[in-house]
Amino acid sequence: MTQPAVLSLTKDTKFTGFLMVRMAEQRQSSKGDKYLDMTLGDATGDLNAKVWDGKAEPPQTGSVIKIRATVQEYNGRLQFRVEQMRKPMSEDDVDMTQLTLCAPEKPEDMFQKIQDTIDAMHTEDLQKILRELISACREKLMYYPAAQRLHHAERSGLLHHTTSMLKTADAILSVYPFLNGDLLRAGVIAHDLSKTTEMLSDESGSVRDYSTEGLLLGHLVQGVSEVRAAADRAGVTGEYVLLLSHMVISHHGTAEFGSPRPPMFPEAEVLHMIDDLDAKMNEMEAVMKRTPPGVFSEKIWSLDRRLYHPVYQTEEPEAEESQPPEKPERPEKPAFPGYRRADADTAYQGLL
Ligand SMILES: [Fe+2]
Ligand SMILES: [Fe+2]
Repeated sequence: MTQPAVLSLTKDTKFTGFLMVRMAEQRQSSKGDKYLDMTLGDATGDLNAKVWDGKAEPPQTGSVIKIRATVQEYNGRLQFRVEQMRKPMSEDDVDMTQLTLCAPEKPEDMFQKIQDTIDAMHTEDLQKILRELISACREKLMYYPAAQRLHHAERSGLLHHTTSMLKTADAILSVYPFLNGDLLRAGVIAHDLSKTTEMLSDESGSVRDYSTEGLLLGHLVQGVSEVRAAADRAGVTGEYVLLLSHMVISHHGTAEFGSPRPPMFPEAEVLHMIDDLDAKMNEMEAVMKRTPPGVFSEKIWSLDRRLYHPVYQTEEPEAEESQPPEKPERPEKPAFPGYRRADADTAYQGLL
């Protein structure tokens, strides 16, 4: 898929390519003519788009369309005048990573890793429950993010979060071999699956709202009922159903964060810890990417603190010690919107 980035487009140029539909509505001009008003974009930016033929139906928000258009200027802003548009076809091979923020691996590959993990288990009861659970939400798992705004808020972010946690679980299991590996991995795979019914996401991985069920029950309670329903369908009874249910309901750690019971056996405790670790590391990585070295970030409300991007500077060699230490380069303008520059004093005040 070769096409110019939206951010690079200039007036009076032609554009042919695939774009993500952020908004699409049928409207009426003052003369009574119908037209389609859309916001289309890729990973670099969005542009308004108009289809003036009056017959075009608005495509679904979050879907991808192919357009042929001219880039025009209206009221000082660039705009697409769309001449042709159609849905993508299977042979088009659309590269979603160019169109929206995506997990670093392909969803099919991450889903396969989860399936391989289940296949490698020795506990048949867990295998049966997990196969039921993931087959029920396979389609949504391909694009669902792990959260609306916080960690892994990207297309296929839920798979990204789950597969990262499986890697961490492997590392922890090598340090604490007394843990039941099948149970821990099963908890990792099952813990957030009900986010696919808790949140309403479009195919770009953008969450527009929470479902009624999600708001009233949340993914922990929904998750437990899904585990039990899956066990029923698979004909599994016994302790593993209870253990997996407990891991789902306790993975937020405390009642303050939605868990009615704290983790009450070691695998449940580890699940809670690696869930928290993976979410925090993903958020911190994103903050480091948008904050220049030597600078404090804005307050990150989910972490309830500001973060500092270290310079990771080694000590100057002795011969150069008489020279004043070089200050880290700070750009005049923010490289990314949202980061705030702060000198040491104001940063310290902000931390208090
Ligand atoms: Fe969760
Ligand atoms: Fe999670």
